[in-house]
Amino acid sequence: MPHPDKFLMAGVMGWPVMHSRSPMMHNYWMEQQGVAGTYVFFEIKPGELAPALKALHPLGFAGCNLTIPHKLDAMTIVDEVDDVAKKIGAISCVVVREDGSLFGTNNDWFGFIGNLKQQQPDWRADAGPVTVIGAGGGSRAVCYGLLQEGATELRLVNRTRAKAEAIAAEYGGPITVLPWEERHAALEGVATAVNATSQGMVGQAALDIQLDALPESALVADIIYTPLETPFLAAARTRGNRTVNGLGMLIHQGPPAWKRWFGLEPTVTDELREMMEHSIASD
Ligand code: ATR
Repeated sequence: MPHPDKFLMAGVMGWPVMHSRSPMMHNYWMEQQGVAGTYVFFEIKPGELAPALKALHPLGFAGCNLTIPHKLDAMTIVDEVDDVAKKIGAISCVVVREDGSLFGTNNDWFGFIGNLKQQQPDWRADAGPVTVIGAGGGSRAVCYGLLQEGATELRLVNRTRAKAEAIAAEYGGPITVLPWEERHAALEGVATAVNATSQGMVGQAALDIQLDALPESALVADIIYTPLETPFLAAARTRGNRTVNGLGMLIHQGPPAWKRWFGLEPTVTDELREMMEHSIASD
């Protein structure tokens, strides 16, 4: 099997790293692609990201992924930030270039869209209004992806309205910011509804939203994958809606990273997804 020039890869560099499934996924692809390397994660304390990133090249790493808060901090550390990462305001993937310089990009939006397309091949961003709840880092990637895919009406609702307003102002396009109190009604007539808040995650309360206005035809997505089915998704499924969890967003941001790190294109298989679902479910 051909080996890439650089055969090691850094893993999630976050602090603390709690439920990281990334090593499982990337090491699955190492085998699938015949790459003699390994994906590991390091816990990097806030404030120590710069020396950690600068060590990637001498250590022989091809790149790394980042978790919060490093996604934001890396913006001022890497040598070049691409336009996507600039727009989203966060770096999810760092690439170590031949000369040792660091390039930062963001594949989270691609992960979100790629997952929807794989799970629901007939899904279209422009099939009708899309409502996104939340305006944090995850939402910024989701909204970016939806606009890239040609969403024609994006209703954005966040507890802290100013953060939604900021996304609308920065992204432009067909985003309408609605007040938090109107989150229930914001589901009326939508083709797609997305929870991009942290509500519903293990240890957090469920997203406080009523689904009465949600059309049964709408696709309902969550960016959370622990648990695999949030109360929001469970409620939607019970009403008859098609649902997509957040695990695929994590999985689908992997291949574009591989393309940059190794010039390879690993595939998202059912086996990989099932392996990761099993791992999450047995926590
Ligand atoms: P991430 O990067 O995962 O998106 P984040 O940037 O901390 O994380 O964003 C978390 C999102 O969940 C935000 O939209 C946040 O709303 P605020 O902007 O008002 O903080 C939302 N969120 C967190 N706790 C919430 C709660 N109890 N009710 C409603 N929304 C909540």
